[in-house]
Amino acid sequence: MSEPAGHRCRICTGTPVPVHSFGMQPIANAFRPAAVSAADTYRFELAVSVCPQCGTVQLIDQPDREQMFHGEYAFFTGTSRAMTEHFARFAAWVRDEHLRGDDPLVVEIGSNDGTLLANFQQWNIRHVGVEPSANVARAAQARGIPTEVRFFDADAARAIVATHGQASAFIAANVMCHIPYLHSVVEGIDLLLGEDGIVAFEDPYAGDVLAKGSYDQFYDEHVFLFSLHSVAAVFARHGFELVDVQPQMTHGGSMRYVLARTGKRTPTAAVREYLDREVAQRITDPARWKEFGRRCEASKQALVSLLRDLKAAGKTVAGYAATSKSTTILNYCGIGPDLIAFISDTTPIKHGTVTPGTGIPVVPRAAFGPPYPDYAVLFGWNHETEIRAKEQEFVAGGGRWIRFFPDVEIVS
Ligand code: SAH
Ligand code: TMP
Ligand code: ZN
Repeated sequence: MSEPAGHRCRICTGTPVPVHSFGMQPIANAFRPAAVSAADTYRFELAVSVCPQCGTVQLIDQPDREQMFHGEYAFFTGTSRAMTEHFARFAAWVRDEHLRGDDPLVVEIGSNDGTLLANFQQWNIRHVGVEPSANVARAAQARGIPTEVRFFDADAARAIVATHGQASAFIAANVMCHIPYLHSVVEGIDLLLGEDGIVAFEDPYAGDVLAKGSYDQFYDEHVFLFSLHSVAAVFARHGFELVDVQPQMTHGGSMRYVLARTGKRTPTAAVREYLDREVAQRITDPARWKEFGRRCEASKQALVSLLRDLKAAGKTVAGYAATSKSTTILNYCGIGPDLIAFISDTTPIKHGTVTPGTGIPVVPRAAFGPPYPDYAVLFGWNHETEIRAKEQEFVAGGGRWIRFFPDVEIVS
């Protein structure tokens, strides 16, 4: 699955223009014990390109999917209370606005530990999850959520139709942007969905990344960074159109895309509005993304010099939340245990591991304090509200957060 520079667009026939490289990077979620991690030399170049023809922002090279999604996948949706609540609202919206007929079926891909589908289970609405990472899939199965342990594509769709029949809703969150063979996925959606069915999925939004400079949305799993323009381009080839879009606060700025078979529903005004905004933002313009790359370089220099200054001043600095996104930042900036002593995280399987490629120990929340470090780099910045609410004592005692988007700054 690795393409040389000057690769073909995964969506159309265009030749994407390379816009920025974040250097050699490990697998973002490869949180492993120090000895195992140090022996793992796997690296790929995290470089971004933009297709001048369809406007899709994509990675030039992506590791093989089995390197990323397997039986020791480290991310469990249920670890975030805010995401659990978000998904309860997502599920209720699907049920209230889009489920028609007597016995509708909802299919979710990237269903992980079943956090979103658990809502449909509670309402006795038929549901099936598709999740290739066996450990998180087993967690869903253990709570009684039917889950196919496989990668979703056109073949998987045929198998689901054969067993469960057609679906009324195809839903997904933070997974469509992970799948390089997107045309097979949309072909699968076409096979799976009834005539009047809807597709609703959420992913980090290119518009937010451009506006905030939040380059940590780029890591191995995220092969695409979608905009309305690119989503419309993919689905148009399979007879679907955007009928609504709804911006979300999750993951530092996401978009919910709602699609239906062309002509089946009247698109909302929001679709036109966001398409126009994207044109004004030059979201499909490689030159605009090259400017973004220069902003990333400046941000890197600001963060590294701040951490060096704090070290020189004898301050203690920890990290907060060992996110997949932090892997891009740490490796791009070359930040290791000399500048950040440890990172606290609530996910049990990350404890006793180190950050991929940079060797910073990941420890349970209890190690964060008291006693607290002087400063904490907020790697889980997309969970800021939830984290700040929990960590008022850190700030009350004089602790300070270090934020890096939109600018590197110290905040209380
Ligand atoms: N939807 C959850 C999980 C997102 S993480 C949430 O938003 O919190 C992405 C998930 O997609 C992982 O669990 C991964 O194993 C899964 N995944 C990756 N490729 C996939 C594919 N081709 N089909 C279905 N799921 C996939
Ligand atoms: P993500 O940003 O890649 O979704 O990962 C979230 C990570 O942040 C996950 O490892 C759990 C961690 N986390 C904390 O440690 N404390 C928190 O309060 C929250 C919300 C998340
Ligand atoms: Zn293209």
